[in-house]
Amino acid sequence: MLTYNDAFLKNFIKEDTYTNFQPLVDTIHEKVQNKELQGSDFLGWYNLEEMIDKDEVKRIIELAKKIRENYEVLLVIGIGGSYLGAKCVIELVKPYFDRMGLEVIFAGNNMSTEYLTDVYRHIQNKRFCINVISKSGTTLEPALAFRLFKDLLQQQDPENFNNHIIATTDANKGLLREQAEANGWETFIIPDNVGGRFSVLTPVGLLPIACAGINIKELLQGAYDVAQGFKTSDLNVNIAYRYAVNRHALYLTGKDTEILVGYEPKISYLGEWWKQLFAESEGKNNLGVFPTSAVFSTDLHSIGQAIQEGKRNLFETVIRVKKFGTKIVVKKDEKNLDKLNYLENKSIQFCNDCALEATIDAHVDGGVPNMLIEIDALNPAHVGALICFFETAVMMGGYLNGTNPFNQPGVEEYKQRMFKLLGKNE
Ligand code: PA5
Repeated sequence: MLTYNDAFLKNFIKEDTYTNFQPLVDTIHEKVQNKELQGSDFLGWYNLEEMIDKDEVKRIIELAKKIRENYEVLLVIGIGGSYLGAKCVIELVKPYFDRMGLEVIFAGNNMSTEYLTDVYRHIQNKRFCINVISKSGTTLEPALAFRLFKDLLQQQDPENFNNHIIATTDANKGLLREQAEANGWETFIIPDNVGGRFSVLTPVGLLPIACAGINIKELLQGAYDVAQGFKTSDLNVNIAYRYAVNRHALYLTGKDTEILVGYEPKISYLGEWWKQLFAESEGKNNLGVFPTSAVFSTDLHSIGQAIQEGKRNLFETVIRVKKFGTKIVVKKDEKNLDKLNYLENKSIQFCNDCALEATIDAHVDGGVPNMLIEIDALNPAHVGALICFFETAVMMGGYLNGTNPFNQPGVEEYKQRMFKLLGKNE
């Protein structure tokens, strides 16, 4: 279960915030249902049941099984929304070390010579297949990586290398679609009405996630279940909209930077996915909360100082995971030279939870509004719920700003200049 607690905001936003915003939220919600707002063509993710059917899920699971049986490595090539969702879910759900079975590696999300060289060396003598993912089919980073690793596949298996490539792309258009058709690659479709950063619960994310051995049916179910509470616009029921309204109300008081905080190192990958989702959806027309992320207690020993006493433009959204599969308890030490016996029989989880409680208290007292999201465990269902919660919230957040949450015109600016420098002429 996912719960959202905004009780710590009471000294930061006015009591009548929800009654004041309710009519606007009602209007936006209704217009979303009727597809009357800018960007309505990209609401495919909003109707999860329609976005991906059971047969597609079955096909993904069957292919993932084959890949796990026949290869040592799956190389996933993609960037932005064609990478971050799968990376985030895999990191959240899988153990930190000793991952058994197929290794899932990502490339095409940077242009680092050293990274690509290391990936190349790591897989060159292994049985690997490629899942190349790009909706547009023209993004430079994945296209470059794909050319490099396709060549390696061809060297490994000159006759059949095309059988080791799966392309996830647009149904009809783009260079990747053209290449897939020309070479007979197996393909999956990124629905037209789903933008990259909203595509983790489509084949974009589901195939790599299933290949990592994660139960994608549970992931989807977690999203479906939480989405039931988002069918109403009532701010006392719809916690995703309530989170959006709280963020917006804080923004209007000058709190323009949000830190997504986790007390589990793995949550840094949720932070990466979340940053893309919120930055590309809200950061436009000179508006929008700037999203950043941190892992505590680690980062309390670095940026913690600035959060406690620096510029007062921050607010935090804290994720707490309630249960873990294992428990580590502090043992008694007869000599007690480290003076830790006061924690005898206490768990590490208890210490982490005390850090969380104390930090919320300290930051709120220091003028940093906090909100708390709790999930029972880092399992597929709860991760699915988090994904759906944040996607729904950012849609409302963008519309509350009066912007289209589903485009990202700003990312073209650097690309045009880069292509000019690179001498691109077609
Ligand atoms: O959210 C988005 O649409 C973008 O971040 C894209 O996912 C990213 O730019 C990659 O694009 P593509 O899948 O077309 O290669």
